Amino acid sequence: MRDKIIIKTPEEIEIMKGSGDILCACLDMLGENCRAGVTTLELDSLAEQFIRDHDGVPTFKGYNGYPGSVCVSINEEVVHGIPCKRRIREGDIVSIDCGVTWNGFVSDSARTFVVGEVPPEVQKLVDVTKESLYLGIGQAQVGNCIRDIGQAVQQYCESHGFSVVRDLVGHGVGRSMHEAPAVPNYYTSGKGPRLRAGMVIAIEPMINLGEYYVKQLADGWTCVTLDGRPSAHFEHTVAITENGPYILTNGIH
Ligand code: MF3
Ligand code: CO
Repeated sequence: MRDKIIIKTPEEIEIMKGSGDILCACLDMLGENCRAGVTTLELDSLAEQFIRDHDGVPTFKGYNGYPGSVCVSINEEVVHGIPCKRRIREGDIVSIDCGVTWNGFVSDSARTFVVGEVPPEVQKLVDVTKESLYLGIGQAQVGNCIRDIGQAVQQYCESHGFSVVRDLVGHGVGRSMHEAPAVPNYYTSGKGPRLRAGMVIAIEPMINLGEYYVKQLADGWTCVTLDGRPSAHFEHTVAITENGPYILTNGIH
């Protein structure tokens, strides 16, 4: 994350858009299947099949030994939940994070799905987290700094009484899933790098209903809130262009 920022050509960005189109369609499909009774491992299999059917490779699989093609994080799980035999239940919020490698380029995106009815404050958490991602993306402009993104996310989420996870951040994306720069979702003492055309970053607010503290479980992956209250996560891969932010993982429209 500390290395040089790799600038992408317009042609490379279009390949990344192709990768992101597959990922967007995959997350649409997972959303249709994210229902009470389905296991998180079944969602993982559906994702892997879908990605391979579209000539992609599930980026996460084998990454630092990660076993799944997706991360599925339920309720107080923030990110990096490992697919298993656990069944999704009515009233869960389910964060699904997925990566696709296609023609040598990665796209990375996540959404939190609400299964059935949840308490109003939990629905609000999900809605505010999603909105904060778009506010962060709005700051992904040539001439702004990385810090402008996190500042927008934090200000909005905290104004609703929620908290921003500090221990995990967004990142550059390209031929690798994780490139420079780091993209915090909170205000930092330094401004961070200036945004230039051709940078591609994953913006991914992880927002908690309670306090921002998190811990990792003994499985070495799953990240949960310390207070056990719910957390939401939305992520898009975004290119910085002279014409403004270009979201690569929101599909064809
Ligand atoms: N999508 C995650 C991120 O944004 C990465 C998942 S970790 C993996 O950093 F091991 F599952 F790949
Ligand atoms: Co990411």
